[in-house]
Formats: sequence, C-alpha cells, structure tokens
Amino acid sequence: MNDELKKLLSRFILFVLLTTTVKAQDKTQFFPKDDLMSLGIYYYPEHWDKTEWERDIKNIASLGFEFIHMAEFSWANLEPEEGVYDFTWLDEVIELASIHELKVVLGTPTSITPVWMGIKYPEIYLMNADYTRQEHGTRDQQSLSNPVWRDLSKKIVAKMGERYGQNPTVIGWQIDNEPWAKEDFSPSSQKAFRVWLQNKYKTIENLNKAWGNAFWSQTYGAFEEIKIPNAKLVGWWGINPHSLLDLKRYSADIQAGFLDMQAAVLRPLISTSQYITTNYTATTPAADPRRTKMLDFNSFTSYPNKGNANLGDLGFRLGDPKELSFALSFFKSEHLVSGIMELQPGFVNWGGINPLLQPGTLRMWLYHCFGGDLSFACSYRYRQINYGAEQYHSGITKLDGLSLSQGGKDYKQTIGEFKILREAYDEDVHMPEKLKDRKTALLWNYDNFWSMEGQGQTKQWNTLKFFQKYLEIIKSFGAPADIVYEDDDLSAYKVVIAPTFELVDKALIRKWENYVIQGGHLVLTLRTGVKDRNGHIFSSGWGEMIYPLIDAEIQNFDQLMPSAKGTLEAFGKEYYWNNWADLVHAKSPENVLAHYTNQFYKGKAAVVSHKMGMGTVTYIGVDTDDGSLEKDVLRKVYAQGNITTENYPEGVYVQWRDGFWVAVNYSSKEYKLNITGKSDVLIGDTTVRPGGVTVWKE
Ligand code: GAL
Repeated sequence: MNDELKKLLSRFILFVLLTTTVKAQDKTQFFPKDDLMSLGIYYYPEHWDKTEWERDIKNIASLGFEFIHMAEFSWANLEPEEGVYDFTWLDEVIELASIHELKVVLGTPTSITPVWMGIKYPEIYLMNADYTRQEHGTRDQQSLSNPVWRDLSKKIVAKMGERYGQNPTVIGWQIDNEPWAKEDFSPSSQKAFRVWLQNKYKTIENLNKAWGNAFWSQTYGAFEEIKIPNAKLVGWWGINPHSLLDLKRYSADIQAGFLDMQAAVLRPLISTSQYITTNYTATTPAADPRRTKMLDFNSFTSYPNKGNANLGDLGFRLGDPKELSFALSFFKSEHLVSGIMELQPGFVNWGGINPLLQPGTLRMWLYHCFGGDLSFACSYRYRQINYGAEQYHSGITKLDGLSLSQGGKDYKQTIGEFKILREAYDEDVHMPEKLKDRKTALLWNYDNFWSMEGQGQTKQWNTLKFFQKYLEIIKSFGAPADIVYEDDDLSAYKVVIAPTFELVDKALIRKWENYVIQGGHLVLTLRTGVKDRNGHIFSSGWGEMIYPLIDAEIQNFDQLMPSAKGTLEAFGKEYYWNNWADLVHAKSPENVLAHYTNQFYKGKAAVVSHKMGMGTVTYIGVDTDDGSLEKDVLRKVYAQGNITTENYPEGVYVQWRDGFWVAVNYSSKEYKLNITGKSDVLIGDTTVRPGGVTVWKE
C-alpha cells in the first residue's frame, strides 16, 4: 500500500470511529422520566466475607435501593498478577444483584494501583514538586501522562468492558474516581507539558511573548529548555503567572484526556443502554468537566458536612448548603442528565470535626438533590468498615452490616416517600411561566478561576466564595440558576451574570453586547474584563474592554485593612465593604446606583447601570461584607426586566421539578412557606423546620 493510500485509509477509519462507536449516546435514554430520581448505594464485596454477600445484597434490595455501585478500587482483586484476571467474585455479586433485582454501576479501578504494579513499574507514580516520586500507600497518585500507566489502564478497562459491556444488570460505568487535575512534576509529565506547549504556541517566540518572559530574564531559546513551573521551589510571589495558568490548563487537559481515553476503550465494547460518566468533586471544581468529549453526562460527589460552623446553632449538623447548591447548578450545564454519585451518609473521617448529623439531614440533602432535578442519587457507602483508612466513616448500616445508621433511617424514609412522588408524577407538566422568566445564567470559566486564585491581590480574596455570593442571591430570589460556560447559548436567560470574569477577548465582549441589545439583562462585576486570554492586563485602562458596555470607566481599585469599614450609599441606605472596591466614573451621572461615602475618593461611583438596545447592563464594582448591596441592585435589575422575585432567607431553598415544588431548610430557624390553599402538600407541611422538607404540587 502506498503512503497516500495509507493516509486515506487511516483518515477513513478515524472518521468511522468518531462518527459511530465512540460517539456519546443519547442522554435521555438512561433514566426513565417517571422514576424521577433513582437511588443507589456503594458496595464493596472485596471488603466482606463472601458468606455475607447475599445477606447484604438482599438487605440493600429490601431497603428499596435500585442499584449498587462497585469495583472502583478493586484492581488488585481483578488482576492479582499482571495479565492474570479474576472476575469470578464480581460475576457472583452481579449475579446476586440481578437475582434481587438490583442494577449495577461499575467503576473502572484506575484511581489506585495494585502493589505488584508499583514494584514493577515505579514510573507510574506522579512526582511531587520536590521531585520525590510517590509510592504505594494511598490512591490518586498516578502520573496520568505516563505511557506505561495509560497502557495498563487501557488493558484493565478493556477487560472489564469485554466482560460486562453486554451484561443487562450493568447500567453504567463510572470512569476513575473523583478526577483531580493534579500537578505532576515527573519526567513523563515534563515531556507532555512541552508537547502541549509546542502544540499551543508553535514557536518559542510566541510562548516567550505570551508568558511575558522579557521580565526577569526568563526568555527561553527552545521548548526543550522548559520545565514545569514550580511554585514550591521558586516561591509563589515570584513565579510567572502566565506559565502557571498554562500549567493548570495542561493538567486539566491531561486529566480529561485520561477519562476520554478510557471512554474510547469502553464505548465499542458496551451496550448502548449502558452510560459512561465520572464523579467530579462538588466542593472545589478540581477538574474541568467540559474538557472531556466522550462521556454521556457528568455526575458529582458531595459531602456537605465537615463540622463547619454553618448557619445558626444547628448548622454544624445540617451541613453547608452552598456546596450542593453550586453542584446542582453546575453539573447539569452541558448535559440533560446529572446525578450525585456519592452523597455523604453521616459523619465522615476527614472533616476538621466530625459530628453526628441532625436526624433527617440526609433526607433533606436527598430532597435538595431531587429538587435540583438530578436523575439519580447514590450514597457512599452501604456498610461502615471496621478497618482501613476510612474506619471512622459512617455508612448506611453500622459496623455489624445490619443495623441502620441515622443516614440509613433517613434513606429508608425517603425511599418510602419517593413511592408517593412517583405515583403523583404527571408527565404533562411544564415549568411555571414565572420560573421560566426568572431563569438566570451565571458564567463560569476555569481560566478565570485559576488565574484569580493564583493572584488574589488581597489575602481576603476567594474566587469561589465571590461566585457563590451571587449564586446564592439568585437562589434566594427563587430563580432557577444555571452555571454555564461563556460559549453556551444565552438566549434562554433573561438575566446573565458574569461574576468576576477576568479574562476576555473582543469576541466575548461582542457576544455580551448582542445579548443585551436583543433584550438581555447583563450584570458584570469587579475584576471583569481586566486581562486578555494570556493573563496580560490591558494597557490603557483597568477593565478597558468593558467600558463601552458599562458606559463608564474604572479608574482604580482599592482594598481595606480587615478591621476597616468602607461605607457606601445606595437606595437611601448605607452599606459596608472591606475586600474590594472599584472606583467607577460614569459617563452620565444618572447611571450611578451606589457611591462611596468615606475614604479620600468619597463620591466616586461603585455601581452603575444603564439601558442599551432592548436590555440593560449593570456593573457592580464593590464586594460588600454581607452582599446586601449586591442583592438590592440585582432585585432592581429583575424588576426592570419585569421579572418577579421571592425573598427566601439564607439556607432555605425552594426548587421546582417535574411538577413538584420542593423546599428544604438548612437554617436553624423554622420557615413558613407561602403555599396557596389550592396546593396539594405531599411531604411535610407548610412550615419547614430546620433540616426539614416540604413537597407540594400546585
Ligand atoms: C470521596 C471518595 C470516596 C470516599 C469518600 C469518603 O471523596 O470518592 O471513595 O473516600 O470520599 O468520604
């Protein structure tokens, strides 16, 4: 075969692969709508005596769980020696599951390594920033760019796919466990980083420019000279921020590539009724879900209670609502389906303090997930284990594997109640108009997150917290809030908020402008539009790219000492700030909504708003201590757009799905719902107690 022919043939094969076998499947097929949210539980047969398997599986089924999750840490049991596979034990448990009418989700076991593997191929472990190689002992330590590791992973995934890809009891696959785009300083990662940079920049001159290497003699002569930027060795204060941003992007790409690689192995082997997902962490978005191309949908893990002082006296037992709240808005953004793969079952072993949950808390979290329109909720884990690193971690059953923990009791009650909801489900319902009207998009961008976390500029800066402040205000308005990416379609949203959106280009500004001209209400905030995509600050004015949009200039920005009080006036009220203040100069004084009332720049504007085309643009240039100014400004934005809002107190969430209104209460005070006489209360009552739930239909 001549070269030309070979080239053509390989292109054809690639085309067929991309368009057929590896194509992600239709996402709605995996979860029948009338099941609403199916419930599952983690089970580890490898931890228990074989004689207990049937008892456990029977128990799980009789509690009403619908699926079990297995195998994500069991590589040593599946491949006890290189190339020697043992699936008999897993076959047996899957068979038991099938007998007891449970479905199975299988995890690929690539977040751990069997002992033999580490001895034989030590290069599969990642290297820390001090260039020490990790070694056997825990999990999530692999060098994802290492070819040996990738090869070993491919083989076990293929074996599992061949074995269970057509098994009707298996409904889905979770790739790896809690993907985490870790920095890896190993030689294979160094090499992969250089390749990544070369692909991105093509020439070393382009890279030198993008990284600003003229500063401090950092200019490179060739890609081969580059080492992964190492803040640990050179000190965070002096490290090149542009190279660090690329390191984050590279690490996220490597992580996503590893997931896609596994999905590509599985896809041709599995039936179209099995889904492929992975379980991202809810708390810190540690890996960018949008970078993967081959998964059917995203799922996530959430552990809302680490014994933190949350809302009020009971908060430390009810958990931090913001964690689930963020995840529920974030993980559905790209796909129709999302589920929670791991939900905390009770106390954990790794919180600063690990208190018992208030009875009912797990039930409340489950309803929070339900209201958030998830398709499944699975809890980690069925049995508490009496040995190993997580022996102090609770399960749905206690150490005897029989008695229900408080979490188990909560699950049992919820499963019972779900029968009522499934019966009450009506497939012909549509989202109420007032909710459609309120639908709000908040723009998220990982580059911004990484860039700002790297350069807070004040020790009080916390990007995620700032973002959550806006998200929580929107939820207190009773508005459905989607966290979307900048290139998503914004036309379904009357209000779009870009909290602290640092990195922009002309195309994005144009997109925002068009959105507003066509009638959208755009809200921009401090630190938006100040840098280009390489992270260089625009030269002619702080945030200059957004000046035409906001019809104002940002002349400077300020920060106060932690104990100092900056004052502001708006809507005839006084507000306080401390963290960040932009000094805004509005072109037309009538556009000013808030101005500073102390400091030497007293009188300067902090918030401006104006009409543009058929919509409005509002710029909030200050971070108030309690978010009250932001809330008042946003309420005005909604009112201008003729959009109604509620006023739910902190910790109270009221969501709507499939015809059900769902209220949960994380606060330490009772909340009286405003439910009309015509409503049908299905679960709970019109007053939601702390940790309580109410579900009703209108
Ligand atoms: C999760 C992890 C689980 C388990 C759990 C304990 O982060 O995915 O495997 O370790 O934490 O809370």
